[in-house]
Amino acid sequence: MAKTSNINLLHWWQRGVIYQIYPRSFKDTTGNGVGNLEGIIAKLDYLNDDTPNSLGINAIWISPFYPSPMADFGYDVANYCDVDPLFGNLDIFDRLLTQAHRRGIKVIIDYVPNHTSDQHPWFQESRRSRSSPKRNWYIWRDRNPDGSLPNNWGSPFGGPAWTWDEQTRQYYFHHFLKEQPELNWREPAVRSAMFDALHFWLKRGVDGIRIDVVGMLIKDPDLLDNPPNPDADPNLPPNDIFGRQLHLYNEDQDEVQEIIRQFRWLLDQYGDRCAIGEIWYRLPRWIRYYGQNGDGLHMPFNFRLMNQPWEANAIRQSVDELEKALPSFAWPNYVLGSHDANRLASRIGPLQARVAAMLLLTLRGTPTLYYGDELGMENFAIPASRMRDPQGHRLGAARSRDGGRTPMQWDDSANAGFSTHEPWLPISPEHKTCNVACLSTEPTSILNLYRRLLWYRHSTPALQVGTYRPIDAGNNSCYVFARKHSNVSCIVALNFTNQTCSLSVPQGGNGKLVLSTYLDQEGPVSLSNLQLRSNEGIIVELNQ
Ligand code: NOJ
Repeated sequence: MAKTSNINLLHWWQRGVIYQIYPRSFKDTTGNGVGNLEGIIAKLDYLNDDTPNSLGINAIWISPFYPSPMADFGYDVANYCDVDPLFGNLDIFDRLLTQAHRRGIKVIIDYVPNHTSDQHPWFQESRRSRSSPKRNWYIWRDRNPDGSLPNNWGSPFGGPAWTWDEQTRQYYFHHFLKEQPELNWREPAVRSAMFDALHFWLKRGVDGIRIDVVGMLIKDPDLLDNPPNPDADPNLPPNDIFGRQLHLYNEDQDEVQEIIRQFRWLLDQYGDRCAIGEIWYRLPRWIRYYGQNGDGLHMPFNFRLMNQPWEANAIRQSVDELEKALPSFAWPNYVLGSHDANRLASRIGPLQARVAAMLLLTLRGTPTLYYGDELGMENFAIPASRMRDPQGHRLGAARSRDGGRTPMQWDDSANAGFSTHEPWLPISPEHKTCNVACLSTEPTSILNLYRRLLWYRHSTPALQVGTYRPIDAGNNSCYVFARKHSNVSCIVALNFTNQTCSLSVPQGGNGKLVLSTYLDQEGPVSLSNLQLRSNEGIIVELNQ
């Protein structure tokens, strides 16, 4: 299972740690209650000022900031080559790039090729008439002779994935909202226009792209009906058609691999840029997105740990399966939080959130950290009157993603230092104590734990490039593994329970405890008798 790399050969996206910024919620500098690009510039030093007082991340992925009617908060793009005035303009974006690069921070943008906004001029043209030159840029179909929809596909946001257009008397297809019509990637002119958009940003100097729902780009040519999913949760809301089907024909079609190779070929013309894809499929299907010879995505996002029960065995098994399945050219990565999920600290509890921090930052592969998780921010129950997420509006409050998208908590002032105005989503009262200013002054806070872990990772080749080896240490409540590079090993032991636990690492001997998630001790330890407190993770360094 050992896979080794030479640190000097690693790319920036392998060595570094990525930080996801949801721009609406990071920092507002205009006082309108919505975050913007200036706000990101203002906080770059927080992210990395080259000292251990900053977080120490190496790349930011910024969720969409394109002109958009914001039906899905930017994932409905009305122009791929500009910035929405709400977020700034191209000059500010260029300044953001320069300022980020000055601090050694790479910039990854969100690329949303699967669908546009219904306000995009391409769709406006396409819906004008059946003979529009852009008609085939989108997916239009007649109703069936019996009057029914073209097929049975559903939207992940609830309801059917087809909307009737009265003017041209055909349905158009949209996986997501009806305001997000799906582009037809079988149409060469669509490819060419979308590749132009990529060139536009790569020429400006962006370092990478995160490709939204890339597996959905190609649909079955005959748009065959999907079969029902026999394992579907019986408690799904009645309109969740998508959740009740097996997605055999609407996504993950073989032809999408060819488009990914084209993305990759395009990116490679610009040097060391990186393509990350949003891919949710099971392991064997997911792995294909690296390409057959590494000519696909640099990294399909690995959300697998987010879907596991938070237990030592389940997490270990998920990592081991991945490590075993990856071909040698494929670089692993791990994600524990995103703008589409409930907050990490709410899913697993605040105490385990510290263990999760250590896990994320010690596994082999690139970690992606969601803004605010470094503070242990929790989901905030948004009152129904303030719900903004279209998914929540359509599938019920329990499916709203708002609770994990609330503004970043910078200080304990009324709007958490995020804005001078009422923010677009309410701020949780937890911000009084859970904020950057306050946690920075507490030596053992979760924020300081993240900082310590990040900076330790940066200075420790074993964690950046070392091999991964799981260890049976005689206790199922803990997950123990070794990372090794040259003559240095790091033994990582994570206690997933609220009980103390004793471990015996078979190789025995003595090591140096360099970091505990409690941030309260260091020093020599015996590997044959490691004592972990409840909810504790430790890193023990060995020189062999
Ligand atoms: C995936 C994005 O992560 C999500 O936020 C968005 O709603 C859908 N794609 C539709 O673009």
